[in-house]
Amino acid sequence: MFEFVKIFDTTLRDGEQSPGASLNTGEKLKLAKQLAKLKVDIIEAGFAASSPGDFDAVNKVAKEVKGPIIASLARANEKDIKAAADAISPASRKRIHTFIATSPVHVKKKLRMSYEEVLKKAVESVKLAKEYTEDVEFSPEDATRTERSYLVDIVSAVIDAGATTVNIPDTVGYTTPQEFFELISFLKKNVNNIDNVVISVHCHNDLGMATANSLSAILAGARQVECTLNGLGERAGNAALEEIVMALKTRHDFFDIDTKIDTKQIYGSSRLASQLTGIFIQRNKAIVGINAFAHEAGIHQDGVIKERTTYEIMKSEDIGLPGNKLILGKHSGRRGLVNRLSELGFENLKPETLENVFGRFKALADKKKEVTDDDLYALVASQSRTVPEIFKLVKLQVVSGNSSMPTATVRLQRNGTIFMDAAQGNGPVDAAYKAIERIIQIKVKLEDYQIKSVGEGKDAMGMVHVRVHFSDTGKTILGMGTHTDVIQASAAAFLDSINKNLFFKDVE
Ligand code: KIV
Ligand code: ZN
Repeated sequence: MFEFVKIFDTTLRDGEQSPGASLNTGEKLKLAKQLAKLKVDIIEAGFAASSPGDFDAVNKVAKEVKGPIIASLARANEKDIKAAADAISPASRKRIHTFIATSPVHVKKKLRMSYEEVLKKAVESVKLAKEYTEDVEFSPEDATRTERSYLVDIVSAVIDAGATTVNIPDTVGYTTPQEFFELISFLKKNVNNIDNVVISVHCHNDLGMATANSLSAILAGARQVECTLNGLGERAGNAALEEIVMALKTRHDFFDIDTKIDTKQIYGSSRLASQLTGIFIQRNKAIVGINAFAHEAGIHQDGVIKERTTYEIMKSEDIGLPGNKLILGKHSGRRGLVNRLSELGFENLKPETLENVFGRFKALADKKKEVTDDDLYALVASQSRTVPEIFKLVKLQVVSGNSSMPTATVRLQRNGTIFMDAAQGNGPVDAAYKAIERIIQIKVKLEDYQIKSVGEGKDAMGMVHVRVHFSDTGKTILGMGTHTDVIQASAAAFLDSINKNLFFKDVE
């Protein structure tokens, strides 16, 4: 008989707590739809009580995303649980995930409560959550630094109160594989009613052991793992979904357990998470880094050509990694593009998005000999906007060099009106940004600017991510732009953040 471990994805909640990774509702919805395609079992869509924006995002995901169970996090109090219940109410399958800290340092110093009070709150919260949904998860936060006997008491009490999943978080990434195996085994042995629930684990990566700890817990009997795409999350992040899933698949001989994940969606999901959060994936990241399937040393290349399994333990096709051979060129038509996009998992693009992607594809094919799958991912990401293009770049002209002051002339369009200005800067990007700032007349601060190439070669596109602080709304907003000309990609990223700021100012 097959055994399955449930994949509980928390990219939209814990992942979004990565420093600098905040996502708007449209972006969360887009990622949630991709998580549904990836076939995760549960999507933790956010922390409904934490802000109106989070509530809205959880609620929209609950309304629009079909397939996985939709969960919201809630502290162990009435207000949070009611907000979570309201936000997830449209989902056909819904879960409330409530938590309270249980370790000595958290209970005494953070909560300033007694152990009895914490246990009472945990039980009351689970009972309250049960009034809204049958599916209730409880987490004793910082479980791995909690007194074992107290952990047994609280876990047993919340199960009696109706919890259906008990999650054991390694909140600060402190445990080790051996120790975590023993902890899960200990709970299985000592909690009298443990067989009534699914045991879940939630590991942070502070010591780089999150994946190993999660796998170890599965060996001890955990049947749900909480994880994020690319290992996004608080501080050093959470266990990476792609690592856990591919470890279980590749070493099925050892673990003898499956997941329901469609692994061919891993690469696309990982790229989307990176593009939306602006957090690039390190080249040598396991499974999804661009070096993960590349062979540099001659002896390795020779081995792989003779027999792939000499140096490859996984097939790149299994994670949906594009071949990046010649994919499309300037003679390819709309049908070729649509076919390739649907092979990459973009089947249901809106007609206007498809039109824009086709236009940019043609322009790109004129500049580059080969348009690769990576280029297509980037084109789709930059064209499927989550907000309207309020300011549109009509013209950008830059003069720069080692003997002149960099100067940019910019022409923008808003509601049919053309605005034009020019500025000098300490480089061409700075000059372009200053000219745009003169037009929009809002004080901004560029907090972060990152550029990387999409794919390889001198003619590769540049992808720029910026983080811009706007004085009018007090918000810091991420913008993304791609182009073969890096100054244009930079201007597009800056305008993307400006448009998001203007759009959310109007709708909020
Ligand atoms: O790390 C943690 O303990 C958490 C809980 C809320 C599950 O994120
Ligand atoms: Zn966490």
